[in-house]
Amino acid sequence: MILEEILKDEYRVAIANNGKEALEYLRGAGEMPKIILLDVMMPEMTGRELFDILKAEESLRRIPVIFITAENDSEDELLAAGAVDFINKPFVPRRVKLRVRNQVALKNYSDNLEQMVAEKTAEATATLDNALQGLANVIEHRDIESGEHVKRTQLYVQALCNYLIGATSVYAGELRRLDAPTIVKAMALHDVGKIAIPDRILLKPGRLDDEEFAVMKTHTLRGKEIIGELGDVNSSLYLRHCEDICYGHHERYDGKGYPQGLRGGDIPLSARIASLADVYDALVCARVYKAALPYRDAISIIQEGRGAQFDPVLTDAVVTLQDEFEDIARRH
Ligand SMILES: [Fe+2]
Ligand SMILES: [Fe+2]
Repeated sequence: MILEEILKDEYRVAIANNGKEALEYLRGAGEMPKIILLDVMMPEMTGRELFDILKAEESLRRIPVIFITAENDSEDELLAAGAVDFINKPFVPRRVKLRVRNQVALKNYSDNLEQMVAEKTAEATATLDNALQGLANVIEHRDIESGEHVKRTQLYVQALCNYLIGATSVYAGELRRLDAPTIVKAMALHDVGKIAIPDRILLKPGRLDDEEFAVMKTHTLRGKEIIGELGDVNSSLYLRHCEDICYGHHERYDGKGYPQGLRGGDIPLSARIASLADVYDALVCARVYKAALPYRDAISIIQEGRGAQFDPVLTDAVVTLQDEFEDIARRH
């Protein structure tokens, strides 16, 4: 009551008579207090016990605590535990006001900093998203791939991820960690490296000869390079998936793919999924040099590649999802 009297002109003061009451108040509070004044000596729960509970709770641990101490309390120990300051009994009103004012100012300062960092991070993420979206548009505008192919492959990837997570497959946990929606977004960039392929090869009507095909294959590496220039792939899951998919979507499960000849689980999961979506769509759609295959035949070809070109678990998932895949292909 004395403290309230000292502080009430400058601050809104909430009072709790013991630790339990304080916790109930804090856990139900819409707005967290800027500061807590906590008496070491309290009935039921000591100030130190309450302090330890506060520090263990994510939503409460950042509220600064000033301890109210009597002469024989161990201030060093409380400081070491993370208390920001002390007010000694008996209270000297001027000193109480100054200490509270200092700590509230510090707290405001650190809250502002935290918010600025959060805003900057959101800004950087938005910029990256825009850059990647811009690149996806370039793919479409340069006739590298049709916008429909890009959209369909994303939808197959989404269907596969949903199924694999929902069916609690062996990949459910990994996909949750990798954040499946980000893999779907990254799929739009799988052939971005083709930006760097000369038109005479890229737009050639008909099959490529060996030398041309060798150049075409470099779109995987070019894609990795383009993504790498946008930022550090270790700092963004989105960039990480883009790079993995660009570089790895022509790898084969048996190690006979390109560019690295990676095998099985060494190929990033996102790239293994991308490969199935990409090949399925290539099979069921007409290209300049080939007719579209019936959906059933496409599934048979995919099944033949089980464990050779494709991851067996993912192949089985595509077979299970064949009606959904066909639906996507027909509709988009
Ligand atoms: Fe490709
Ligand atoms: Fe593709």
